[in-house]
Amino acid sequence: MSPLHTPKFKNPRARYNFQGRSCSITGVGSYVPSRILTNADLEKMVDTSDEWITTRTGIKQRRIAADNEFTSDLATQAARRALKDAGVNSEDVELIIVATITPDMPFPSTAALVQRNLGAWRAAAFDLEAACSGFIYALEVAQQFIMSRTYDTVLVIGAEKLSSIVDWQDRNTCVLFGDGAGAAVLQNRPGSHGLLTAVMGADGRKADLLFVAGGGSRCPATAESVAARMHYLRMEGKETFKNAVQAMQVAAEEAMRRCEVDISRIKCIIPHQANRRIIEAVGERLGASPEQMFTNLHKYGNTSAASVGIALDEAVHSGRFHRGDLILLLAFGGGLTWGSALIEW
Ligand code: ACO
Repeated sequence: MSPLHTPKFKNPRARYNFQGRSCSITGVGSYVPSRILTNADLEKMVDTSDEWITTRTGIKQRRIAADNEFTSDLATQAARRALKDAGVNSEDVELIIVATITPDMPFPSTAALVQRNLGAWRAAAFDLEAACSGFIYALEVAQQFIMSRTYDTVLVIGAEKLSSIVDWQDRNTCVLFGDGAGAAVLQNRPGSHGLLTAVMGADGRKADLLFVAGGGSRCPATAESVAARMHYLRMEGKETFKNAVQAMQVAAEEAMRRCEVDISRIKCIIPHQANRRIIEAVGERLGASPEQMFTNLHKYGNTSAASVGIALDEAVHSGRFHRGDLILLLAFGGGLTWGSALIEW
């Protein structure tokens, strides 16, 4: 694992409330499609079993978007819920960032389509791609715009229709993923609670652990590329697993080091929901109790960039923590990428 190249940041309070600026999460929301695909359903599609999937991953079911439901639709639903939660009108949003590896199309951006759906006419809009770390990367980008006085209100969304890039003939991957979206409204709230620090990291030397080969400039869609199933996600499971544990541990420790807090101060850890065994291993390495670790992957599987946002929404609205508690978001994904965000709620 290469070292994290992150700016040294010694005083979280300075950033938390810097020159009269502060970046708070004022609303969260999520959306998952209504169609449920259970492990029993998958047993009829590929050579697998509920027992194998449950013991290796902890996943029991996942949500699958309808044929006429796209990433921008999932993102829009989650965004509407987050805006309502924050009490913010769509016309007051100044920037929309959509983190996704399954945009509706190569361009325009999914964020532009969400802007249209919401009628958020004042907002700039762009997509961000950091695979499963996308939501945390987007939080950090949003925070930078807020702290630099560029914007006061930013909408961050992680949204995926992974069912569109999953190879339903490949049992190594098709049992792992699901569709959904999570969103957060970030606002300047001077003197209030907020995002203390965010860590981002990447290691492109390991880009071939997790990828979709076809559809970009390297391998545009052709009859041959489709026949060779190059437009589906491929993954080296075991190596990905090892790197995931190590990267999330490093990202968590760096965030806590910057803010001079130890694990006992963290009320709730919300990791990317890829695999129960990865989450347990990260928790053990950090010295966290199982009660500190939030999981909902048994219901949704791995929803990539959406996973942390969906989990954050469920954790907030199920009362897992309260105003003033410290929470830690963790993610890891293709790229490789990783990230963490320490938040005083
Ligand atoms: N059902 C039954 N058998 C299966 C299945 C399945 N669905 N999938 C694989 N197998 C078989 C394989 O063929 C292999 O069989 P073989 O030994 O005869 O060749 C065997 O099971 C593999 O077993 P293990 O290697 O022991 O499986 P492992 O414990 O590594 O678990 C898993 C596999 C679940 C994929 C794990 O490696 C994992 O979770 N990796 C991390 C994945 C991940 O977190 N990705 C996140 C990033 S996602 C993103 O960025 C978009």
